[in-house]
Amino acid sequence: MSEQKRIPQHVAIIMDGNGRWAGLHGKERYEGHAAGVEPVRASLRAAARWGVKYLTLYAFSTENWGRPSAEVDALMELFCQSVVNETPELIRQGVEVRMIGDRSRFSEKVQKYLAQAEERTAGGKTLTLILALNYSSRDEITRAVRQIARRAEAGEIAPGEISEATIGAALDTAPYPDPDLIVRTSGEQRLSNFLLWQASYAEFWFPEVLWPDFTERDFDAAVEEYARRDRRFGLVK
Ligand code: FPP
Repeated sequence: MSEQKRIPQHVAIIMDGNGRWAGLHGKERYEGHAAGVEPVRASLRAAARWGVKYLTLYAFSTENWGRPSAEVDALMELFCQSVVNETPELIRQGVEVRMIGDRSRFSEKVQKYLAQAEERTAGGKTLTLILALNYSSRDEITRAVRQIARRAEAGEIAPGEISEATIGAALDTAPYPDPDLIVRTSGEQRLSNFLLWQASYAEFWFPEVLWPDFTERDFDAAVEEYARRDRRFGLVK
């Protein structure tokens, strides 16, 4: 396999450990989330340097609405601020921002900021940053099934014609390739309702580092580990 082939085309990250980082530093939880913005920048720099074309970040799950309202509000504000502050640099770097998840539950203000970031960065050629916001796999799959059922009801597709490709095309991630490498920080080893369909053949990497401490070197370590993995996709060599 060529060196080029060993670089993941799509890296997805579960950014975990902000709350624990805040606790360790005697800070409020929202300060842990705010400290999680710099590692996003670092990951983008490292991804661009390696030639990774898609970077998906699990920023807010459908379950996260159950957190204290002050924390949810702080996260919404952080997303709005971050997309506004970072957009000029993202444009400069050629980063195209996209979203997956059900954004209809966000306030009009949050939806507007997210849409502006997508519009302003559209056409960026270096890499696509996919933010998973109000996202969970089960919700995504449920929405996809409803959409396919509606098409079947309208006579547009016969049940027997529904294939893996039909389902993949109905998911939020339809425009993107499956993740090659999924990273979860903070030592937790679970998927927590993230990209369950898309992770079928992904490699996993679970570093102990808490997300606010995640650096370009940690991203490099993940890519280097990926390069050592032997992916067979259920086949023999
Ligand atoms: C999980 O850590 C992290 C989140 C739910 C929020 C992630 C958001 C950011 C990193 C903010 C920056 C992101 C963007 C896209 C601007 P946790 O709170 O579950 O940590 P814990 O398990 O230690 O409590």
